[in-house]
Amino acid sequence: MTFTYQKSLEMFKRASKVIPTGIYGHLGPAEGCFIPSNAYPFFSERAKGAYFWDVDGNKFIDYMCAYGPNILGYNDEDVDAAALKQAALGNCVTSPSSKMVELAELMVDTVAMADWAFFAKNGGDVTSLAVMVARAATGRKKVILIKGGYHGVAPWTQKLGYPAITEEDVANNIYVDWNRYDQVEKIVKENPGEIACFMATPYHHPVFEDNELPKDDYWQKIRKLCTDNGIVLAIDDVRCGFRLDIEGSDHYFGFKADLMCFCKAIANGWNISALCGTDALKDAISSVMYTGSYWLSAVPIAASIECIKKLKKIDAPKLAQSLGKKLTDGLVKIGKSHGFDLVVTGVPSMWYMRIANDDSMILHQEWVAECVKRGAFFVNHHNQFINCALTEDDIKLTYDIADEAFKVVKNRHPEIE
Ligand SMILES: Cc1ncc(COP(=O)(O)O)c(C=O)c1O
Repeated sequence: MTFTYQKSLEMFKRASKVIPTGIYGHLGPAEGCFIPSNAYPFFSERAKGAYFWDVDGNKFIDYMCAYGPNILGYNDEDVDAAALKQAALGNCVTSPSSKMVELAELMVDTVAMADWAFFAKNGGDVTSLAVMVARAATGRKKVILIKGGYHGVAPWTQKLGYPAITEEDVANNIYVDWNRYDQVEKIVKENPGEIACFMATPYHHPVFEDNELPKDDYWQKIRKLCTDNGIVLAIDDVRCGFRLDIEGSDHYFGFKADLMCFCKAIANGWNISALCGTDALKDAISSVMYTGSYWLSAVPIAASIECIKKLKKIDAPKLAQSLGKKLTDGLVKIGKSHGFDLVVTGVPSMWYMRIANDDSMILHQEWVAECVKRGAFFVNHHNQFINCALTEDDIKLTYDIADEAFKVVKNRHPEIE
């Protein structure tokens, strides 16, 4: 028996009347990320540990982890207890809670490059702030970015030709290919004294494409180039942060960023983001006008303190990497036994996978859909995520689901050897 989604569909019809596109952004079907759309639930009812339940009562092992925030397991009891305790004391208050100082101290103790921390709500708040800080510090405008990189939805991060984006929004962006130091060096030479910032994710994790780690000396060369030319090196660790290294992903790859953007995994789903930086940029960030109504709210701050302490205690990046390695090694093996070449890229705690027997993604979309309809929630366009509540039994169950899904796709495609 495979899952059906009657209530999800009914809810989606109601949603479409009162919410633009029903479910906007990457969580909804309008962006073409859920193909075929009838394989996916649209609305959830509850979540616990490595699982979520949809409105039809279907239970999924969740390998998307809310696109990253779920790192310890949904509704982690320690994190939620800290949040609720703080809620009883106060959340959004005229003066910030002293918990904010505690969290900043913890971030500075935890993240190798950090001398200070600034809190906001979403990843995009702090990637935009990083660019502003770089501009304030250097008095320059231009920013080097990686083609296919994602830093949020602020107009400067979008592409010309997208609705509502003007030439002025993106006029100062210069794009290079990932892992091409020579291109970055050329841009820096051609724009002397004009580049404020180089911003990239610690490794390349675009959508619909294999993910790519940095070449051996890539970051060390970029670091030196930035230092030699007065360019701020800003790392967008919104997605990778604390899934590679509790000290930051720059530390994982052996270099030191000037600015680091954190969000998803820092509070296990409570809404907070952080920009960390070095002392050299403290005056620059202090000079920038930047704030929001809920940015200093104490509940997510209390949750984040507990989350980071727990991540350190259980060495979450190491655990997530080993769980991810076990899972993906098994999936590759099972795929092979059915004649499928499942290619896994990125890092195991947030791997990207793709059936490479055809270039069209059709086989991959079909296999992912069959997994979802049996209770293993993957998506076919984006990297997946591991959370630390995942058990060996969950991994075994995923193997069984994947095996069945490969069989179904193979029966549909007898051409596969
Ligand atoms: C690498 C990266 N940067 C920035 C963002 C934007 O974060 P948010 O959606 O919280 O604004 C994301 C979100 O997926 C991301 O993955």
